[in-house]
Amino acid sequence: MAGEREQWGSGTGFVLATIGSAVGLGNIWRFAYVAGENGGGAFLIVYVLSVLLVGAPIVIAEMALGRQAGGDAATAFERAAPNSRWPLVGWLGIVSSCLILSYYAVIAGWALKYLAGGMLGTLWRTAGTDYGGYYARFIANPGEPVAWQMAMLAVAMLVVTGGVQRGIEVVNRYLMPTLAVFVVGLAVYSATLPGAGAGWRFLFLPDWSALTDPHVIIAALGQSFFSLGVGMAVYITYASYMSPQTRIPVNAGAIILGDTLFAILAGLAIFPAVFAFGMNPEAGPKLAFITLPQIFLAMPAGKVIGALFFLLLSAAALTSMVALLEVPVAAIVHRTPLKRWGAVLIVGLTVFVVGIPLAMSYGVLSDIKVGGRALLDALDQAVSNYLLALAGLLVALFVGWRWGRHNALAAADLDRAAVGAAWLWLLRVVAPLVIGLILLNALVGV
Ligand code: PFF
Repeated sequence: MAGEREQWGSGTGFVLATIGSAVGLGNIWRFAYVAGENGGGAFLIVYVLSVLLVGAPIVIAEMALGRQAGGDAATAFERAAPNSRWPLVGWLGIVSSCLILSYYAVIAGWALKYLAGGMLGTLWRTAGTDYGGYYARFIANPGEPVAWQMAMLAVAMLVVTGGVQRGIEVVNRYLMPTLAVFVVGLAVYSATLPGAGAGWRFLFLPDWSALTDPHVIIAALGQSFFSLGVGMAVYITYASYMSPQTRIPVNAGAIILGDTLFAILAGLAIFPAVFAFGMNPEAGPKLAFITLPQIFLAMPAGKVIGALFFLLLSAAALTSMVALLEVPVAAIVHRTPLKRWGAVLIVGLTVFVVGIPLAMSYGVLSDIKVGGRALLDALDQAVSNYLLALAGLLVALFVGWRWGRHNALAAADLDRAAVGAAWLWLLRVVAPLVIGLILLNALVGV
């Protein structure tokens, strides 16, 4: 069973790894397409509100739960509420992270493919300016997306096998700051494109009528959960390697701010270009993979910058995959005699196999549709909008009502802070009300 438990090398290591898990494809690929599908400005308002009022309190709650237990996601609930059914919530998080990883690896594989294409020059040569065609040819191939998906998973498996300090922490330390500089640079460049103003207006001028559309609200809440990484037990797991000296609220604040700014900056890189090049913001999951190369080709030294960008995008995806993989691996290592590498192998292979039809779902399997969406897209919507929301709701109810006021406040380092009461109130009332209404709405059929 578990021997001496690992810890982060430093507080900074924890924050960077956690930001690395939060910042990923969700901020660039998913944020852009979901904002595009849901009207831009109105979506952004609901998104930011749901980050602040619902997502943030749950992030803190997950961290508090994780650190006090020093175990996997289910253990966190076993310690906090012995002999109850609450550990099922931990298992829900563990299953959700496996499900997300199964399609996340596919999109991460696209990023890797574009990185290879950018470096070898095939992306710029064969595509001309027809990136829609480049994407379509890639995705229609029965084997290629699967091969890239496997490559990305293999790298994530190697990192997680390396362990908390030598694997996860090292990889995050350099990648995250570099990516931030890049996105700022791209957003500034995008702003100089002719017609960029339409993109800014799309993102910042809300069409108020969209606020009455439950789809927009559900999408915004789902996106905030996905982007923060709430409901997948990542914070519970990562916080379990945290030292008691690290303050939870400050760290949570840095992570939430970093993640949200990152998404907005990525939107400012993408939408002005979408409008400048006359593309459709509602293009769905392929949006970023068609617009971004267009920007690169138009800018000076764009080919080098483009290749570097896809390097960083792959890296950001990798750090998120590592977090998703660590959740089930921590549970297996904690509960079975298996070593870390054995657990990594089992989870990695299972996730790979589940992901194969998803990797083909825009190509050879594109005829299969669920609710009008391709398999991968449908799974992403279902997991982010409902499964994560459900897990988030249960965490809020547990920490808000069941754990006990004193335990919760002390575990979150909020027992001496005035904001402690506000945090509990958000957890007890606001989060359950908002999420509950949305789930109810879904049940009765929107
Ligand atoms: N937050 C990540 C992103 O925005 O890409 C996705 C993610 C990573 C979700 C890790 C959950 C997680 F545990």
